[in-house]
Amino acid sequence: MELCMIVAVDERNGIGRNNELLCHLSGDMKNFKSLTSGCPVIMGRKTYESLPNGALPKRVNIVLSRDENYILDGAITCESVEEVLGLRVVKNSQRVFVIGGESIYKAFFDHADKLYVTCIRHHFEDADTFFPEIDIDHWRINSVSDEFKADEKNDYPYFFAVYERIRGNVHYVEDEFNEI
Ligand SMILES: NC(=O)c1ccc[n+]([C@@H]2O[C@H](COP(=O)([O-])OP(=O)(O)OC[C@H]3O[C@@H](n4cnc5c(N)ncnc54)[C@H](OP(=O)(O)O)[C@@H]3O)[C@@H](O)[C@H]2O)c1
Repeated sequence: MELCMIVAVDERNGIGRNNELLCHLSGDMKNFKSLTSGCPVIMGRKTYESLPNGALPKRVNIVLSRDENYILDGAITCESVEEVLGLRVVKNSQRVFVIGGESIYKAFFDHADKLYVTCIRHHFEDADTFFPEIDIDHWRINSVSDEFKADEKNDYPYFFAVYERIRGNVHYVEDEFNEI
């Protein structure tokens, strides 16, 4: 199972304000739909409650809440990261997507293999939720798209970047082990 995160960030890693997205980008929505369709999506209770039409279609929706009585139609609810990672539908999927918000990106960050980042070319002063810093010692850029211009369907210019986690060097670890 490959654990991916998908997020749209502004120039300071802002992702939302007042429990809403920072802006509307039709191109980002299309990219989100095409990447996540058919895969389980993992989100926090607040993000779930901000979805205009409830659970996302054609995807198993997994929603985290610490409230054991939080039960949803059309979504699996879980009380912890470990519970999510133990779900059969997660373990048996080729790819799963963590789709936010801030607290859920943070909670799953150490488990992530790949980051699909939409970079919005703007700084929103009033952003109140953020994506974790992407430390270039631990992440390599896999691909960067051309920049897409703002237009009537996209509030700001943006581009896509994909990061892959740099895995430890096995030989280095083995060499160290041989010295003990
Ligand atoms: N730009 C983007 O790509 C993007 C994507 C998604 C969301 N967002 C934005 O992010 C913001 C929301 O982020 P947020 O951090 O406030 O909310 P959130 O992560 O969506 O949801 C927070 C809730 O998730 C539950 N939770 C969090 N950590 C948990 C854990 N370890 N175990 C069990 N349950 C856990 C708690 O629910 P209970 O309170 O019920 O216990 C918590 O209140 C919004 O503005 C949204 O629009 C942006």
